[in-house]
Amino acid sequence: MDTKNIGLRDIEVADTRISDIDGERGKLIYRGYDILDLTKNSNFEETAYLLLHDRLPSKTELDDFRARLADARLIPTHMQENMGNWRKDADPMDALQAFVAALGGYYDEEFSSKNASYDRAINLIAKVPTIVVSWERIRNNKKIINPDPKLSHAANFLYMLTGEKPDPEIEKVLDVCLILHADHSFNASTFAARQVASTRAHMFSAASAAIGALSGELHGGANYEVMKMLLEIQTMDNVEPWIIEQIEKGNRIMGMGHAVYKTFDPRALVLKELSKKLAKKTGQPWYDITEKVEHVTIREMKNRKGIDIYPNVDLYSASVYYMMGIPMDLNTPLFAVSRCAGWAAHIIEEKFAEAAPKPALYRPKASYVGKYCGPEGCKYTPLDLRPEPQVS
Ligand SMILES: CC(C)(COP(=O)(O)OP(=O)(O)OC[C@H]1O[C@@H](n2cnc3c(N)ncnc32)[C@H](O)[C@@H]1OP(=O)(O)O)[C@@H](O)C(=O)NCCC(=O)NCCS
Repeated sequence: MDTKNIGLRDIEVADTRISDIDGERGKLIYRGYDILDLTKNSNFEETAYLLLHDRLPSKTELDDFRARLADARLIPTHMQENMGNWRKDADPMDALQAFVAALGGYYDEEFSSKNASYDRAINLIAKVPTIVVSWERIRNNKKIINPDPKLSHAANFLYMLTGEKPDPEIEKVLDVCLILHADHSFNASTFAARQVASTRAHMFSAASAAIGALSGELHGGANYEVMKMLLEIQTMDNVEPWIIEQIEKGNRIMGMGHAVYKTFDPRALVLKELSKKLAKKTGQPWYDITEKVEHVTIREMKNRKGIDIYPNVDLYSASVYYMMGIPMDLNTPLFAVSRCAGWAAHIIEEKFAEAAPKPALYRPKASYVGKYCGPEGCKYTPLDLRPEPQVS
């Protein structure tokens, strides 16, 4: 195949009205609004509405949307009981993927109705945080804390996690993180969601496929790997030798590099400030260490490999979540808590786009490089006539 098409880079597969990335200028746009404007002025609920509906809500619409989200937060009791039967060391992303898929059994979707899909979207956005935190508490043998409908999406997540109403400053930090992670055009998990939706599978099926895609370390799993790296580095003095050793070994520095941004990821700029603020508040060293990782990686990648590389969203989100007291392996589930708003918008767009060209079932071509055994193809050999492989 043409190697420039590997990983579908630069191949346009659909039209979208939801978000856009300008990789050269480091800009991210949701429905026409710059992400930096939204982080300053909006909140997660309003941003989720914007992603789903193509415009900002009126006050009444936002109040109604918030109330519907708050009403839908509880997960079925059966599901909570079922979680209790899982192995306690199961990965939270695996649990999330399974329980989001299981929501399909509770909320049937008529795939022909766009309004029904909006209802499923509300259920998805409202219930993903409850699933994440319920699993966190169950695996630690703690009692599940029911959601508090009076709290914002961000505050409620922290409340269900800790049992305490959060400090408003921490709530605001999480709210900004949720806005920043809510959508990112055709990234791997969103494309997975759209691909499944293109078969007319339901919202929860498409979202659970997206969660599977998000779990990999080259996508959402990177922020967990970043925190592991920071803990391994531990001190400012260790940063330089550690990074140089990894680059010399040909290993990747997590949180650095991006398939689309050829400059600073705008989300990393905001997260860098949040990390700095939390480091000041908590007295922890992780902002300083991360900043040094950034500088050394940029310098060494340029000097040793001639490659320009910049921080991506995961570099500073790792320390932000850590300093907020969020368990490390909830970093990626927390990414899903936010990104499910974008997934839902994309799933609805994939199924119900009205303007031509309408999306179609995804079915790319592959370049077969296997064997043919001559023009007639291979001839089937009965099992008892096949030789055993030689063990060398
Ligand atoms: C995200 C990522 C997959 C994008 O990669 P990409 O733009 O498709 O670039 P490629 O994977 O083709 O890499 C191009 C070159 O840069 C190098 N590179 C890219 N990211 C690197 C990183 N984080 N650390 C070290 N080298 C890196 C590759 O090794 C490759 O070098 P080579 O040509 O000598 O083999 C990649 O930057 C990466 O693996 N980053 C770390 C994981 C991460 O943080 N993911 C979260 C993304 S939001």
